[in-house]
Amino acid sequence: MREFILRARKGPTSPDFSLDDLPAAGHFEVVAHCVSNALFFANHIRDDTTIHTVLDGPSDPPKTVSFDSRNLGSLKGFDERNIAETIRSTLEEGVGLDTNASKSSLLGVTVAKRGFERLLQERQPEQLYYLERKGTDIRDTDLHEEPTFVFTDFLSMPRKTDKYLRRLGATPISLGPRLLFASHCIVLVHNELDRRSA
Ligand SMILES: C[S@@+](CC[C@H](N)C(=O)[O-])C[C@H]1O[C@@H](n2cnc3c(N)ncnc32)[C@H](O)[C@@H]1O
Repeated sequence: MREFILRARKGPTSPDFSLDDLPAAGHFEVVAHCVSNALFFANHIRDDTTIHTVLDGPSDPPKTVSFDSRNLGSLKGFDERNIAETIRSTLEEGVGLDTNASKSSLLGVTVAKRGFERLLQERQPEQLYYLERKGTDIRDTDLHEEPTFVFTDFLSMPRKTDKYLRRLGATPISLGPRLLFASHCIVLVHNELDRRSA
């Protein structure tokens, strides 16, 4: 499995945001693009990918909404509005969850009352990579067969999380010299893994 963990520091944690103005909802369009790029390629759903979106924004942080491509029901579409709507309805089902409790929707999407560090403790990734422009070039890295990649949406990782990731032994890897959109990073990682497994 390929696993992506996206930290969205302003991503809404309750369903009361407008689909008509995703930028006002902590730039939720970035989260939607990441989910789409993680799960889909032309005319196909990937069969080997999980993306966890860790949401830290208002009004009930933290929440983690996870998509596993193997269990996915039929989403209405993979455009940003439909993906945002899927997350919003999943958040609706997760209103009132106790800490660390989780609930799966009919669409195969799970919401958990769980934050970034707790998710990592629970997942215990075999090999953790931290996407970082100044890391080791991905082309010079032997990627693990079951890799987990952590990254942020449009804001930086909190300093204390940087330290936590270092303590966990996460490997910083770079996808090139430019600072990219988070959703670009997913495409490049998939492409690198696709080429290696072809
Ligand atoms: C738009 S960037 C975040 C920008 C934020 N202001 C910062 O400085 O971290 C989103 C995420 O994409 C990843 N990223 C962007 N460019 C990258 C690159 N060239 N190599 C590896 N990761 C990259 C980083 O994980 C970053 O957190």
